[in-house]
Amino acid sequence: MSNHIDRRKWLRATALFTTGLVAAPTLVSAKSSSATHQYRKNVGFWELELPNRPDVRTLKARLLANENPFGPSDNTRLAIMEAVSNGNRYGHSQAAELRKMLAEKEGVSEEHILLGPGSTDLLEKTAISHFVGGGNIVAADPAYMSLINTAMRFDAEWKKVPLTKDWEHDLDGMEAAVNKKTKLVYICNPNNPTGSITNNAKLRAFCSSVSDKVPVFVDEAYLEFLDDCESKSMVDLVRKGKNVMVARTFSKIHAMAGLRIGYMVALPETIEMITSMVRSNMGLCVTSIMGAMASLKDKQFQANSKKWTAEARSFVNDQLTAMGFDYIPSHTSFILFPIAMEGKPFLEKMFAQGIGVRAFQVWGQSYCRVSMGTQEEMGMFADALKKVLV
Ligand SMILES: Cc1ncc(COP(=O)(O)O)c(C=O)c1O
Repeated sequence: MSNHIDRRKWLRATALFTTGLVAAPTLVSAKSSSATHQYRKNVGFWELELPNRPDVRTLKARLLANENPFGPSDNTRLAIMEAVSNGNRYGHSQAAELRKMLAEKEGVSEEHILLGPGSTDLLEKTAISHFVGGGNIVAADPAYMSLINTAMRFDAEWKKVPLTKDWEHDLDGMEAAVNKKTKLVYICNPNNPTGSITNNAKLRAFCSSVSDKVPVFVDEAYLEFLDDCESKSMVDLVRKGKNVMVARTFSKIHAMAGLRIGYMVALPETIEMITSMVRSNMGLCVTSIMGAMASLKDKQFQANSKKWTAEARSFVNDQLTAMGFDYIPSHTSFILFPIAMEGKPFLEKMFAQGIGVRAFQVWGQSYCRVSMGTQEEMGMFADALKKVLV
């Protein structure tokens, strides 16, 4: 049937609609009729959600939150178990130890490190401390929304700069969008939900010059999935005294999402400004701190996580190609690809088969975002996708 016909119809629609869009990515398709599913009204792209999403623990494949199925590492589990008996005490000394370890790793002083229960906490604290009284935030569209959403709760305007047609940050556009009211520029690299990266040399030049005018926040949640990742981080700019903030998390490569721990590297005065408004360390558990230290030392686990994620990515890429789908080349633990079905019915059908994924509406086109899981999970995802879309 039908699948091929559907796909042809969709391609025809794509051709029709893209003719009117000058700089739109080749994947952009027909205008959506799904305005009724709007999730966040003030967002240029949006996510579609099921009103009655089942308990994710009942799913056969949990591929919806970019969690890492391969951990935590055995060493991390052991460290956590040992730390449980210290659970009656606050973990300030252990936090100081982790801070020292991270400072050494990043080549900065301890005063440059702020810990948090996940990087979400640090994204939100940054938004709270910077956007009291409004202003604007310059960030890509689409982008990861935590910091932007919190800023908007303080009446900040999100100055959206669409990604380029190659899904990179439009750095010239972003620089041009900065004005007197800009309090912060937010960059997510690699970006979520697209999985794409921005040219490293250009990004470094941008962060270096724009941070002379306004602080630049670089969210590097997925950095460790890149080859030679340390050289791609913007942390060296903080070392050089630039007003750049870099957020990292233990939720992705370290597979500790539920344990909630992350950190930020920034100028000491920036960290002082944030902690003068909100406390540091009080959201941290001694178990997670000890687990994080063990995981940082476990280079083999990190290498395995990266390798297995890359294998899952290449399997999904091949499956998508075989089924006739396009996808955005991903550098992360998830893949975004356009689908010829509205997000909500698509999610319903996938969830009915026990497969949890996400659906986004980007510039009028529906997309599926699938997180990388085990080989078995990716096989189940491919089978379900065939039934639903092919
Ligand atoms: C780009 C990005 N930043 C930050 C986070 C937040 O991660 P966490 O709060 O678990 O550290 C996520 C989670 O998916 C993410 O994708």
